Amino acid sequence: MEGKEQKPKAGMHNIDMSFIEMTLDVMKYVIHRLTHTESHIGSPKKEEELRKLVGETITKEGVGGEYAFSLFKDILVPASVQIDHPRHLAFVPAAPTRASIMFDLVTAASSIHGSYWMEGAGGIFCEMEAMRWLVSITGMPEGAFGVFTSGGTAANLSALVAARDSWRNKVSDRKHMKGLMIASSGAHSSIQSMAQVMDVDLILVPNEDSCSAKELQDCISGLSKEETIRLCAIIATAGTTNAGIIDDLIGIATICKELNIWYHIDAAYGGGALVSQKARGLLSGIEKADSITIDPHKWFFAPYDCGAVLYRDMELAKNAHAQMGSYLEIFKDEGAQGFNPSEYQIQLTRRLRGMPLWFSLAMHGTDSYERAVDRGLELAKIAAALITDKNHVEMVRPVGLSCVLYRRIGWEPEDYTEWTYQNHKKGYALVTPTKWTDNRGSEMVARFCFINPDTTTEDIAGILESMR
Ligand SMILES: Cc1ncc(COP(=O)(O)O)c(C=O)c1O
Repeated sequence: MEGKEQKPKAGMHNIDMSFIEMTLDVMKYVIHRLTHTESHIGSPKKEEELRKLVGETITKEGVGGEYAFSLFKDILVPASVQIDHPRHLAFVPAAPTRASIMFDLVTAASSIHGSYWMEGAGGIFCEMEAMRWLVSITGMPEGAFGVFTSGGTAANLSALVAARDSWRNKVSDRKHMKGLMIASSGAHSSIQSMAQVMDVDLILVPNEDSCSAKELQDCISGLSKEETIRLCAIIATAGTTNAGIIDDLIGIATICKELNIWYHIDAAYGGGALVSQKARGLLSGIEKADSITIDPHKWFFAPYDCGAVLYRDMELAKNAHAQMGSYLEIFKDEGAQGFNPSEYQIQLTRRLRGMPLWFSLAMHGTDSYERAVDRGLELAKIAAALITDKNHVEMVRPVGLSCVLYRRIGWEPEDYTEWTYQNHKKGYALVTPTKWTDNRGSEMVARFCFINPDTTTEDIAGILESMR
């Protein structure tokens, strides 16, 4: 036997009967899950309770795939919310298409590295097809392109790092100067968080409603000379998370152009409306941005997680993000040339998160996306009409994209919280309250955000009835 390599006994990289059985179990589960979305919505249990129910799972010998999978299906799935449940209308919900979920499995099984063309050309090509479409619906000029990220937070961070880098490179004495950015108070929490990560100052124009060019101009006029020099980016929101409000994208673009300041638009949620002929006009001016965030895992029906950052000038993004290392030199070689997504955002090793979106777009066509987004817009109007019709609830403000803020007349903040928990515990719906702030103050209100085209008028009416 000398010289002949001994094959190891069945192990975790081998193919045996238990692997085949596990594959069949997984496929059975996936098919069931994709065809049954209207069961209980799922609600959390305390960690100690789950620990007691599940017992020990990580052992020296392993507990076996069948057992681990049964724990997951029977105990852990019911303790998790189905984000694509038609009565999940909280936060910004998600409703990945079945094709995109299936292709997420394919993406995992294909094991393609999504960082550099040399390794991932075929997969990166798929992402580029989807990205080309995203760029086209923004109307950004020739040369604009982008990359998929883990979500809106990572896209915002990547864009703002590129903004600061470009500002620093314009004048030599800015190398160690602290940057300053302006957004409105309707901006998503990730903007504040990422400003902290970057250690830049952030000023919020105090208005949760649409930020006008005049308000932004007043804010800039109030800056000291030193602050004006440090201004490296202005951020507008196209579809606030709370209420679907869109800032004055055209007016703000004019100010950014005059001051030669990087213009970032966070359209993580509202970007979905770009595909709708009915709503596209609301986002006019988006094409003037230097960078845009759009989350396909929100209103473009991709599975978690899939964000995207788009740049007007890809070279500026590359200058900020391309990593250097002797082990990466090969990617610069002529033979390895191609599009390298890692050079345009904060992550090096990356999953090809744009692939499920690409497959679903290719399979269904963009008209299907338009119809699905239009349905979300329509559901918001249906909800507004139902609310106006009933005497125990009333609208707080007009519908913003697919967001509806409404109040239950006579309720105190704790009533909203109690109602949320009740519906959630019953497995009926997840609708959470939020706060709305205007010049009269801040108030706890109820909120719907419609993404899932499977939500029905009966679902909305039932939820409103549960507030009686
Ligand atoms: C407007 C906006 N920007 C950014 C984000 C952050 O995106 P993510 O949760 O994908 O990081 C969100 C999330 O809801 C959002 O609505």
